[in-house]
This record gives sequence, C-alpha cells and structure tokens, in this order.
Amino acid sequence: MIISSSIISLNFLLFEQELKLSEQAGIDWLHIDVMDGQFVPNITIGPMFLPFCKKATNLPLDVHLMINHPENHIEAFAKAGADSLSIHIENNPHVLRTVQNIKELGCKAGIVLNPGTPAEAITELLPFVDMVLVMSVNPGFSGQNFLPEMLPKIRKIRKYLDLSKHKILLQVDGGINKDTVSSVIEAGADVIVAATAIYKYPEGIKAGVDALRNS
Ligand code: DX5
Ligand code: ZN
Repeated sequence: MIISSSIISLNFLLFEQELKLSEQAGIDWLHIDVMDGQFVPNITIGPMFLPFCKKATNLPLDVHLMINHPENHIEAFAKAGADSLSIHIENNPHVLRTVQNIKELGCKAGIVLNPGTPAEAITELLPFVDMVLVMSVNPGFSGQNFLPEMLPKIRKIRKYLDLSKHKILLQVDGGINKDTVSSVIEAGADVIVAATAIYKYPEGIKAGVDALRNS
C-alpha cells in the first residue's frame, strides 16, 4: 500500500518538521491538494508552494488539481517540481490533450473521478494515464466522512485496470482512516490518500501512519 499524505491538514507553522516526520513515519508520497474556489468551494495553494516542499523532503509530489482549466496551469506545476499531476474528468472537454501534455512535461498523469462520476467515464482514457484517482468524498475539504457507496466503483475500476495492458495505479482519496482503509484496500486500491488520519491523529504522525498500515 502506497500512502500519499495530504498536506492540507499539516500544521503550517511546523511545515518542515512535519514533512520530516512524515518521511520518518514511512509516508511514500506527498499529496498536494490544489483548489481554486471555482471547481471546488475552497482555495488552497498554487505552484509557488512546491519548491518549498522539494527543499523540505525527498518524497514524490503527487499533485491533485481541483481547478478549472487545469490545462493552463500544468506547465507551472511541472516546472515547480510535481512528479505526478492528476486532473478531474468532469470539467475538461479535452481531457486527453491535457493528459498528453502532462506526460510531455515529464510528469505522471492521473485522472480523477468525483463521487457522482461513473467508472465508465474513464475507460477510453486508460491507455494514456498512469493513475486513476477515485474520490471517496466530495472534493474540497479534508475531514469528511468516507462514502462507502464508492466501494463498488473502486472494485469496478480495479477490474478495468487488471484487464489493461498498461501499468496503472488506483488511488482513493477522502475520509480514509484506520476504520475505512481496509475496505478500500480490499476493493483494490494501490494508493491511499489521507490528511486527517495522519496530521490530526491524536498520538502524532507516526502513530497515525502505523494505525493505517496495521489496519
Ligand atoms: C479532498 C482532498 C483530499 C482530502 C483528504 O478534496 O482531495 O485529499 O483533503 O482529507 P481527509 O483524509 O481528511 O479526508
Ligand atoms: Zn486530494
């Protein structure tokens, strides 16, 4: 299980320290949630933030773009140090072009589905992507409850990926904690994203990661 910890719930006063603790706790990737207040009702950070992450940690930067017109911003994120760039399918009529551009920029490309988007929406894109990200909450905020109704969709996409000739990772994001993680892994996820379950875990980051892994 690859764990991508979302910095959305970091204590930014302790930014560098918490990233070091994340590395020591065995986090695999750092998940950067980018929100524009348009596609989702919250605003977070832009590309200028990524070089600071790069300075503080060697973890791969797994960037989740929850923005309108991602095609206008992927170059800036790639240049700022993103290792992977995941874009939503819902707001982009030329999503394949954007996926191809992401790869030309040297990043891994992910495609993201909101809870209301059916699994079938991405089948034609599978030969072009490195990762599929299934949202298990409505995107926009950390700390929401996991939607168990998404498990059949995760299972369905797992089947697509197993039948594909390409190596594609399945990532699940939202409401994942020690109580929900096993159902997500059982359904076929390779990568889980967690913010609250790691950065707000009462006993600290390492204990939060251990709790996820032990579940
Ligand atoms: C939701 C984001 C997630 C989320 C994760 O819009 O994409 O990455 O912040 O937060 P938790 O783990 O608290 O659900
Ligand atoms: Zn995310």
